[in-house]
Amino acid sequence: MARYSEEVIQNVIESNDIVDVISGYVSLKKAGNSYKGKCPFHNEKTPSFSVSPDKQLYHCFGCGVGGNVITFMMEIENISFLEALELLADRVGITLPKNQSENNEKYQKKEQFYEINRNLANYYFLNLKHNHEAMAYINHRGINQDTIMTFGIGYALNAWRSAYSFFKKKGISNETLVENGIVIKNDQQKYYDRFRNRIMIPILNSRGKIIGFGGRILKDDEHGPKYLNSPDSIIFSKGTELFNLNNAKKNINSDSFIIVEGYMDVIALYQFGIKNVVAALGTAFTMYHAKLLSRYVKEIILCFDGDSAGEKATQRAIQVLSSSSLSIKVIRLDTTEDPDSFIRKYGIEKYKTKIKNAMTAIEYQLMFEKRNISLKTNDGKLKYIDHAIQIIRQSSSSAERELYSKLVAKESGVSAKVIYQMIMNHQQQNIIPELKSVIAQENNVPKAYLQAQESIIMDLLGQKILISDLSCNEDYYSEGFLRNVFISIKDFWNNSQKISLPLIAGQLDKSDQEKLTALVMNYSENKNIDLKENERILRLFYNISEIRRIKIKLKTIESTSPEVSGLLNQLMALKKQVDDVQEVPNG
Ligand code: UTP
Ligand code: MN
Repeated sequence: MARYSEEVIQNVIESNDIVDVISGYVSLKKAGNSYKGKCPFHNEKTPSFSVSPDKQLYHCFGCGVGGNVITFMMEIENISFLEALELLADRVGITLPKNQSENNEKYQKKEQFYEINRNLANYYFLNLKHNHEAMAYINHRGINQDTIMTFGIGYALNAWRSAYSFFKKKGISNETLVENGIVIKNDQQKYYDRFRNRIMIPILNSRGKIIGFGGRILKDDEHGPKYLNSPDSIIFSKGTELFNLNNAKKNINSDSFIIVEGYMDVIALYQFGIKNVVAALGTAFTMYHAKLLSRYVKEIILCFDGDSAGEKATQRAIQVLSSSSLSIKVIRLDTTEDPDSFIRKYGIEKYKTKIKNAMTAIEYQLMFEKRNISLKTNDGKLKYIDHAIQIIRQSSSSAERELYSKLVAKESGVSAKVIYQMIMNHQQQNIIPELKSVIAQENNVPKAYLQAQESIIMDLLGQKILISDLSCNEDYYSEGFLRNVFISIKDFWNNSQKISLPLIAGQLDKSDQEKLTALVMNYSENKNIDLKENERILRLFYNISEIRRIKIKLKTIESTSPEVSGLLNQLMALKKQVDDVQEVPNG
């Protein structure tokens, strides 16, 4: 449900030039009528991402994504339609009509939660300065003043109701404080602060709003968990957020993110100048995290703790990441180290060397297998080959597959050719039926019919013809994408008496939107044939499909049914029309 009117949405789209907006994320170069750059949504070496200033659309010729300026913001920032709209309105100083947004309770509540968290972070921040014990801990961890400021680090007082009273004075209800995770209600119906006597680290989402906190105890031997995190809420979901993404995404020149386990690892690396670093929030790494990261970078470097838990987490993260488009590298540390302790012990240069020498995920996994399987026996070799094949299969690059086949050949004494074949065999079995069904579907719509529909749609979008010039309605378009586009154009025209490509695209769902941008960006004008001819083709195929439909119907009903004669008449008429249409000479 859109909370804003069509006019408001139009205004926002039209005020945000798509080239300007995308330039903030992708370095674009002018090429003919459009701009080209490397696609931010998939891993590529040569630019196939195109932005058209005339059409106000973007399209990747490599991976097929595309849409208007709002779609771009939704995809790149991983935000909802409304959030994208608001961001873009903000960008050009458009004030969105307030009374409409006030209708949305959930939206209001989220805004309130962000505001409460902002106040709480400020409160914690001021507490820290005035507390000697907490400051001593911060100093002991080697965290400097700049870093305190950057991360907004603070301190929750050693008291049961300090944050609680702070917010009660501001008139915030108990329910709100509980729901936002700041306050806990006990069995005696008493309210008390969740975070007490802890160093407080605000967690920001990628847009820079504070969505929760992580709190560390000052002494490791004190009772309670070492870290306490805000519970999930309407603004905070641990499985989909990453600590420091807001800062890291401003430093993606390096084209990769380092993923570490802990808050303190992020904070230490950041302080030492490695800013493209993020951490999951005390949860396992999820597919959603991977998807989020792939919006910003092409490569991920996993650098978890050196202990066996870190080893397991590395393995798991590789599994999760392997189905994403990200390329994966791995850094392993000694069993007693984490990135924070490593960098403080050995210095930043040693860590940078580690980054430079990071293993590929395949190298890492092969190394791991070799550590656990003895290659001295035939049995061990076969087992190793079996595991290695499954590992190498994860790569879709044939160069990589060949390279690692050779490596495993050397280690096992089985020829690289055989190993390579074993990798490929399995692969083909999976893909073929899928490909077949795709091909079958595409062949269903005859080419001439497709071209005629596309030609009319392009002429409508180019305003070479108007809806009122047409004699075929939407029924004449093939079901799915083309019919949806036609309806979208027609609706938009009927509502506004104009044609706006980005807005028409915006009315479609994601997949149709991508197909439309692909069509528009690939279309060459000289394919146009005149409207009469195109509509003749539309009618022909429509009639043919109607004939097919009636024939099937006739087969399924009794010959004595009263419907039969009507259907037969229809059939005759259609057949005559088809013959007539076919007789018209081409062009
Ligand atoms: P670590 O214990 O490795 O974190 O836990 P760290 O940042 O290195 O902590 P320091 O150096 O001892 O201060 C990794 C992450 O797991 C989550 C936190 O997000 C932490 O940063 N965690 C850990 C919890 O949520 N609760 C805990 O009790 C412990
Ligand atoms: Mn640590």
